[in-house]
Amino acid sequence: MKTEIFDIDGENIDYSLLEKAAEILKRGGLVVFPTETVYGLGAAAACSEAVKNIFKAKGRPSDNPLIVHISDFDMIKELISDEKTLENQDIKKLAQNFWPGPLTIIFRKNNSLCDEVTAGLDTVGIRMPENIVARELIRLTGKGVAAPSANTSGRPSPTEPRHVIEDMYGKVDAIICSGNCAVGVESTVLDMTCDPPVILRPGGVTRESIKELLGKDILMAGVIKNDEGQDFVPKAPGMKYRHYAPKGKVIVFSGEDEKIAEKINKYFSEALNEGKIPRIVASRQTARYYDEKYVTVFGDKECPETFAAGIFSALRECDRYNADIIFAEAVSQEGIGEAVMNRLLKAAGNNIIYV
Ligand code: TXA
Ligand code: MG
Repeated sequence: MKTEIFDIDGENIDYSLLEKAAEILKRGGLVVFPTETVYGLGAAAACSEAVKNIFKAKGRPSDNPLIVHISDFDMIKELISDEKTLENQDIKKLAQNFWPGPLTIIFRKNNSLCDEVTAGLDTVGIRMPENIVARELIRLTGKGVAAPSANTSGRPSPTEPRHVIEDMYGKVDAIICSGNCAVGVESTVLDMTCDPPVILRPGGVTRESIKELLGKDILMAGVIKNDEGQDFVPKAPGMKYRHYAPKGKVIVFSGEDEKIAEKINKYFSEALNEGKIPRIVASRQTARYYDEKYVTVFGDKECPETFAAGIFSALRECDRYNADIIFAEAVSQEGIGEAVMNRLLKAAGNNIIYV
């Protein structure tokens, strides 16, 4: 398939290009577009053929539902089953405070959406992105745009134009390139069809900030126990897959900085001796403990948001070095760190060593 590349600057939008991209979506094509979290692989949410093509382009399992992106609050009415939900005070507060932005809210859906979008569930995830190119594209399309992250299924999500070119060139009608994604991890997926609300996937909006806004406890899927004390099956189908993974095996190390460094350097020498290509993913502060030729810095401890912005890019950089074993430092679980650790642990298949 021929893929058109549109370079669009968010601060000075070329509307002739953006109109072209919207036309492609309207006639059932696929367009990769930037958002503040990660790049999205978009199709008109009402068009079942187009949505099927998203699953093909990504190699995504068909039981994993897509998020529908809107540019205007009123667009929700066409997607959900009961407009009265929008009178709910908690939902109003969430939308007022976090939209546009990296929050996806789960609602009961109506029948306007094709079944492929929601993978047969009776709910739909909706989000209004902050990125102006994304919102203008959706506005010009005039309808909800279904979009997962624009990576090949299982690979780290794309946060830079070159990441989407690597994964999607030749598989989609167009790619809108518009710089690096500011947040760098995906949206927080919040289920508001239950009380108390449950975060199905931690992301760009922190659990603490939702808790503070709503003044109530917010549960985290995967740590919910049922009556017998067992974990619930994750409600976001996407969370059960190994994910975000570079080609090499990832091991995460958690503990005090010096102890981590000592342990990683031990594993690192062993890997070199075995003829492997190791890579170390470290913070700006701890990079000096390691052989600099082998270090990818993914963030700065003084500004935890930088770990979110840098995590996927760092994992992809390990692939460019053909690393077959990757030693990554854990970050603090506080705030945005909860989402960063979620992605790191998924990339590592939960392989973590406490030192
Ligand atoms: O930031 C983001 O959310 C990005 C950008 C492009 O907006 N999108 C994204 O989509 O990350 P995706 O498809 O890679 O991840 C969506 C997650 C999956 O874990 C999926 O299972 C869950 O949201 N999800 C979507 N709809 C759902 C629903 N109705 N019920 C439960 N989980 C849902
Ligand atoms: Mg994804």
